[in-house]
Amino acid sequence: MSSVVEALMKLSMSTLSTIIKFSSLIFYFASYSHSVRHCAKLFISLHIWCIYGHTLKDTRLSENSSAKTISTSWWASWVDLYVLRVATSISVKMASFDSPSELTFEFISELVTASLGTVNGEDTDGRTYNSVKDMWDFELMVDNNKKDVTDGSQISDTKWYQDGLQYWDDSSKCSISDDGVLQGYGKLTPIDTRDSNIFLDALKECRPELKLEVAADCGAGIGRVTKNFLINRFERVHLVEVSPRLLASAPEYIGAKYKDRIECIVQGLQEFTPKSNTYDVIWTQWVIGQLHDLHFVRFLRRCAEGLRPGGVIVLKDNCSTTCTFLVDKDDSSVCRHIEYIRILVRLAGLNIVLERRQKGFPEELYPVVMMALSKD
Ligand SMILES: C[S@@+](CC[C@H](N)C(=O)[O-])C[C@H]1O[C@@H](n2cnc3c(N)ncnc32)[C@H](O)[C@@H]1O
Repeated sequence: MSSVVEALMKLSMSTLSTIIKFSSLIFYFASYSHSVRHCAKLFISLHIWCIYGHTLKDTRLSENSSAKTISTSWWASWVDLYVLRVATSISVKMASFDSPSELTFEFISELVTASLGTVNGEDTDGRTYNSVKDMWDFELMVDNNKKDVTDGSQISDTKWYQDGLQYWDDSSKCSISDDGVLQGYGKLTPIDTRDSNIFLDALKECRPELKLEVAADCGAGIGRVTKNFLINRFERVHLVEVSPRLLASAPEYIGAKYKDRIECIVQGLQEFTPKSNTYDVIWTQWVIGQLHDLHFVRFLRRCAEGLRPGGVIVLKDNCSTTCTFLVDKDDSSVCRHIEYIRILVRLAGLNIVLERRQKGFPEELYPVVMMALSKD
């Protein structure tokens, strides 16, 4: 190995610089492979040797050369090293996507910050947050008053989901009606249905292999999406919903004539695991905000396994354009920035095959985006 170092030290600065840039390029390509971590270690070591060697060489040269030339080459190599270090850290992190167990709020938080630059989030109690991690640390704390406690043992998502269920299962907060599940905006159903149909048509056009046999309606509520849209486009629909009260009303709300074509599953999406190779479309509307980031990513990964060939997961949801996220303390949900959503999708290993904006909703509402996701 020392002969390699010696050989490197004999090289001219421009040759070494070329090697550094060339290896950075290889490194970027390598980041798509599973052996990326080994590549990372190798390249980091290589670059540290190069820079170290050249620092020594420059010191020796300084006796004979002009100071300007030396300092330029010295800085050039450090800039190269810095660029490589950034590339290395990003690529190593990207490589850890492969392992679900390594996904953390901290990691997601770093990605969101890196992607958006400045993070500005808030909750409906007026609290503000500078990072995604700070927000989840607080929201998932067993006792929210203990803001200073950073011990991981204080973190639990039980209360987050209990609060969500309590809200939706309470008839004084959510009646059995379109107005109930849409928090006063039941009148949007026709226009919502129109754009969902347009989206599915566009999807079918760009993905002829997509079949329209079995759909899942995730976060189904009373079955509003199934009744107005899915049951008219698919042969069978499985409704997945956490509130027993809302789901119990679905068969009657959807209509007795459809009773043999629907199946009701009372379960939180944080637990829902579709049987493999089951669904053509997993339609997930106005519910992803109920899941915290780790559950959201794992839910998408499990859904991907539940798709039939050509199948897609569709997310139809609010997205924030002004802030990175907004937490609604009433129903324990978070409205995320579109880039934040895209990061979670990428973390689940999925591609966005079609993305459209819902048109014609009132200005005062969040923009609503429809995204079709697939494994291929
Ligand atoms: C805004 S409503 C939307 C209902 C339906 N998707 C629609 O568009 O009419 C949100 C729904 O998500 C359900 N929900 C909340 N948390 C959930 C969870 N963790 N898992 C599954 N459903 C959940 C609520 O009970 C409620 O029915």
